This record gives sequence, structure tokens and C-alpha cells, in this order.
Amino acid sequence: MSTIATYYWPGQTQFGYGAVQLVGAEAKTLGARRKVFVVTDEGIVAAGLLQPVLASLTAAGLAAEVFDQIPTNPTTTAVDTAAAQLRESGAELIVALGGGSPIDAGKALRTLAGGPPEAKIAEYALMLGDEVRPLPTVPQMPPMIAIPTTAGTGAEVTPWGVITDEARKLKMGFGGPATIPTVALVDPGMTLTLPPRLTAATGMDALTHLIEAYVSTNMAPIALDALILDGIGRIGRFLRLAVAQPAHRQAREEMMLASMLGGIAISSRWLGAAHSLAHQLSGVAHLHHGLACAMVLPTIMKFNLPGALERYARVAQALAPTSQVGSVRHEAERAVMAVRDLMIDVNLPLRLRDVGVTEAMIPELADNAILDLNWTTNPRAITRDQMAALFQETY
Ligand SMILES: [Fe+2]
Repeated sequence: MSTIATYYWPGQTQFGYGAVQLVGAEAKTLGARRKVFVVTDEGIVAAGLLQPVLASLTAAGLAAEVFDQIPTNPTTTAVDTAAAQLRESGAELIVALGGGSPIDAGKALRTLAGGPPEAKIAEYALMLGDEVRPLPTVPQMPPMIAIPTTAGTGAEVTPWGVITDEARKLKMGFGGPATIPTVALVDPGMTLTLPPRLTAATGMDALTHLIEAYVSTNMAPIALDALILDGIGRIGRFLRLAVAQPAHRQAREEMMLASMLGGIAISSRWLGAAHSLAHQLSGVAHLHHGLACAMVLPTIMKFNLPGALERYARVAQALAPTSQVGSVRHEAERAVMAVRDLMIDVNLPLRLRDVGVTEAMIPELADNAILDLNWTTNPRAITRDQMAALFQETY
């Protein structure tokens, strides 16, 4: 191997049923003495998922200030507002509780808390050609504990967050190795009440992470292959069950593990064109991120086949194993079909026309997608016009 391989690994991770009850003890181990700042959203509070967090903090003798106004797609305004409240609070540690949005917001708050008071989150945006404010170092920032409530984003172990920049009308990424959460408490019990539709969509987000990381051109950290194929296998065996039987404890645990493996995979390998297209479907047509990923994934895989034929063949064997293995080309094509079959079995729509996307949106979707850097590690080079054709094909 001629290049230097860069691995981004999670912080300390506690995985399993009951892990959420460790939050008080972990906060104390990380140095909190009086107060922690809990960032979440109203849906999480309504679902009763804040209660075990507060109970554990109270038992550890820690006060909690709760900010529960993170929008479904967190905005620069919401984050800058929460950061001012965090500074006022005197809290020594951040607990981020929720799906990808509150965890991304938690990473943003941690960044702002470690930087100068006048800094805004938009100044940390990772965009080509922009002057970026350097990230604070780990000792400058308060420690952060991430507690996911969906099995999808893997945000509890990744370095980055995505925030909607209202002024520039786009989704901005930020972060780096320093913003990987200090501790992740990954508790499948937090997903037992997640409705089937969200279970399906978030599970497909995790599958998209694993598949895009597996065929990424950012191939240096080859040792991740085994973890990625293991994660794809778990989704093939357990996503249907988690959707069909929401209280199935093993299915929830397997999906949580697959989601975490997806997060570990993209931290080092990055993503691909499916995320470039999906981000625009969320931005322009307001599709749920996981649903948007799921809908474009088979189309992108079919387009990508010539760039990663053997790898897609191995995806098919991991996702839908057969005793008789066909030719490499046949198996690679079977991977695309296996993803479509899975979507049908978990009741997700296949066509963009069925979820509020119009043909008139396609030019804007393609214009924005080519500006989204995720496609730069796609296994097949792609142009703006090819992106427009792929949106059309999925329409
Ligand atoms: Fe994603």
C-alpha cells in the first residue's frame, strides 16, 4: 500500500440494553461536578426518552439544563441560540439525546463552546473555497456524551454534523476528529418505541452508509471491510423484523449495532453520490433523510456497477446470501435487486413522484447535488447531467 491510511475510531462506547442508565456516572467520570446541558427535541421528550437520562443524572447528584427546541433539520439560528443558553448555564458537559439532528446540534454546541464567544456555527462550514474558522481542540471544548434514539445515522461515533444554513439556504457540514463524541451510550432500548416507518427509513440510512463506504474510492483503511460486510448482513437479517415487530429486542439490538458500524465506516471511508442526491431531496422536497437515501440507493448502485462490480457482488452475498453464487456481474446486479426487495418488504415507496417530488424540481436538485462533496468518493465519476438523469430514473 502506497498511501497513508487514516482511521477515525469512536470515543469510548457503551453498547447494550440499559446503557442509557450510565449517563450520570459517565458524566462524573468526564469531570462534571454540578451541571450538564442536555440538548434534544420535543418529540424525544414526548416519547418519554428524556426521563431515564434525567433520572441517571439526578442519581449522580448532577443538575440538568434541558434545551428541547432542536428542529427536525437543525438550523444555524437554533444552534447559535442554544449556544448562548449553554454559555449562560455554566454547564460543564453536553449530553446530546436523539436522532441525528440533536446529536449534530450537540456537536455544533460543543464546537461553539470551545471557540471564541463571537463565533457563529456558519463560520465552521466545510465548503470548497471558503475560509473556515479552525475547530477548537479537544481540551478547549466541554466533553460530550451522545445517546442515539434511532438506528440509522451512526452520528454518535462520527466526526461531523450537518446544519441547515438559513442565510445561504443550504446544508453545511462541519467537524473533524476533535468533534467525535467523547462517550457514546448506545442503548437499543431507546428504539423500542420508534414507529415502523421511521424504523424502516433510518435503517435504510444505515444500509446506505455501509454500502457507500464499502464501494468508496477512499479505500485506504481496508481493515474496515469485515465490519462493513458484517453490518450489511445484520441489516439483511433484521431490518424486516424490526419493522414488522417493533418490540423485537434482538432485531432492535442488531439494527443499533449495524447503525453504529455504519457510522464507524463512513468516518474513515466517507460516502458517495447517493448522499449527494439525498441531501437535495431533503433540502428541496423536505424528504426524511433516510427515506431520501433509500429511494436513490438502488438507482445509484445500478449506475455505479462498472466502477465496483466485485464489491457489489460481495454486497449481494452479505445482504441476501444464496447457496449458489452466480457470476460476478450477476451477483452485482442481484445486490441492486436485494436493496429494492428490502424496501418493498419494509413498506417504503420506490418512486419520487409518490412522495411529493415533481419533475420541475429536477434541474434544481441536480444543480445542488453536484455542489455536494459526497460524490467525490463515488466509485464512478458523475456529472450534473447524469445526476439529473438519475433523479429522472427514480421519478
Ligand atoms: Fe446518511
